[in-house]
Amino acid sequence: MTNVTKKAMNKLQENKYTRIKAPIVEALKQAYETPSYQFHIPGHTRGNGSLPEFKKLIGKKALCIDTTDEFDGLGTLHPATGPIKEAQELAAKAFGAKKTFFLINGSTAGNLALAMSLTRKGQKVITNRNCHRSILTGMIISGAEPLWLIPKKFEEWGIWGNVTPESVEEMLEKNPDAGMVWITNPTYEGVVSDVKSIAEICKKHNVPLIVDEAHACLWNFNNHLPTSALKLGADAVVHSLHKTGGSMSQSSMLHISENSIIDEDSVEKALKLLHTTSPSLMLLASLDAARANLDSPRGRKQLERAVQNAKYLRREIDKLEHIHHLQPDFGYKTDITKIFIKDDRLSGKRLESILEIDFNIEVESASDAGLLILSNIGNTRSDMQYLAKCLQKIDKTNYTDIYYLEKKKHMPMLTPIIKMTLREAFYSHKETVPKEQAIGRICAEVIAECPPGIAVLLPGELITEEHLPYLVDYDTVEVIK
Ligand SMILES: Cc1ncc(COP(=O)(O)O)c(C=O)c1O
Repeated sequence: MTNVTKKAMNKLQENKYTRIKAPIVEALKQAYETPSYQFHIPGHTRGNGSLPEFKKLIGKKALCIDTTDEFDGLGTLHPATGPIKEAQELAAKAFGAKKTFFLINGSTAGNLALAMSLTRKGQKVITNRNCHRSILTGMIISGAEPLWLIPKKFEEWGIWGNVTPESVEEMLEKNPDAGMVWITNPTYEGVVSDVKSIAEICKKHNVPLIVDEAHACLWNFNNHLPTSALKLGADAVVHSLHKTGGSMSQSSMLHISENSIIDEDSVEKALKLLHTTSPSLMLLASLDAARANLDSPRGRKQLERAVQNAKYLRREIDKLEHIHHLQPDFGYKTDITKIFIKDDRLSGKRLESILEIDFNIEVESASDAGLLILSNIGNTRSDMQYLAKCLQKIDKTNYTDIYYLEKKKHMPMLTPIIKMTLREAFYSHKETVPKEQAIGRICAEVIAECPPGIAVLLPGELITEEHLPYLVDYDTVEVIK
């Protein structure tokens, strides 16, 4: 093929990609190209009132499209109208949902809305202990009470296993008054549960199944990745598109599945209460764009590249002596793009700081045991080659403080001792005491640092010596008076 023909083909391909519909992106482009005299919020008025240094950093164009859903042609979020409604419908189709809501306070907003709309005071909700704190905050608001599923722990890797169908079934049988099952899938490190079997059990017991799939919005777009809960019988699912899907930080989606038994209107009402009344069109457009990208040949190619990059990195790590990765088939199904590694000579935190300081590499997170690398749709093969090369160097180097271990723990893997309900404890009279004096007292606050946002302590739980390594950054703790 000549260079000219190649160029023409590329142009054709490009046009094919850009024809993919993204209604909010298109409406925002239109608004940008036909500016009006503005006497409304936001008061920076296309960046004219912004700090020049900030404007230079973010770009004038970004400030020009920084608008909310109050103006003609852009649609509204609650209720969804115009391009926003259309974009949500396209997203529902792409993810295989009956209805999709765009979220502009992350999956946190989705979890809060689900708790507020689907649970009530005193209602029992079966959930895994390693769930995200937003689920628990939701239960503090509604007054629902968690019944804890404690997954298996892999101490050597410092990670939680999956939620088993047997544990869900047992819990439902022991607690016929439980009103809902709410699981996290996958775990932060990519460990996958058998959602299909769990959904069948929930159906048998006639309770809704909610799946927090914050870390799995890519699954519907690649055959090498696990199947999304939307296809396996869950009633509602949240996806943090901003985590791995390519949208801007804070933007997520909440999906209601095709055969869901939950009332989507009440979910929408809760979202309306929780969301800002000035939703950022930039965030909404970024959700629209991320869906359009993932659902396009280009996006699928990027995702396939992420999968192949992950396989490549894993193969390279297999050649090393001290650094290991959690094998994708270590006994559980996993999401291959989440690569958890450990160095048998170093703590995960120490390995993280070596990568940061000596090699200018930032990873997703690190714990006592290891660290988490995400192979993203935006990573190139040369990114991965650089990372592999750095890991080879580390593997061959004798770091002087090689036995360095922090006295601080990062991944909470404790079994709670519950003394009071979440809500009761949260709204009790409290006092703040030095953490050493908190031992033996009942916690009154949510202690769950991000990442991963998993609870160390929750209101109503007994504080013990075991908690201290997780509280290194805390001088004081709120306890029940
Ligand atoms: C499992 C899980 N659910 C929900 C959330 C909240 O997501 P967001 O940051 O989009 O609010 C997180 C965030 O880390 C998470 O890990």
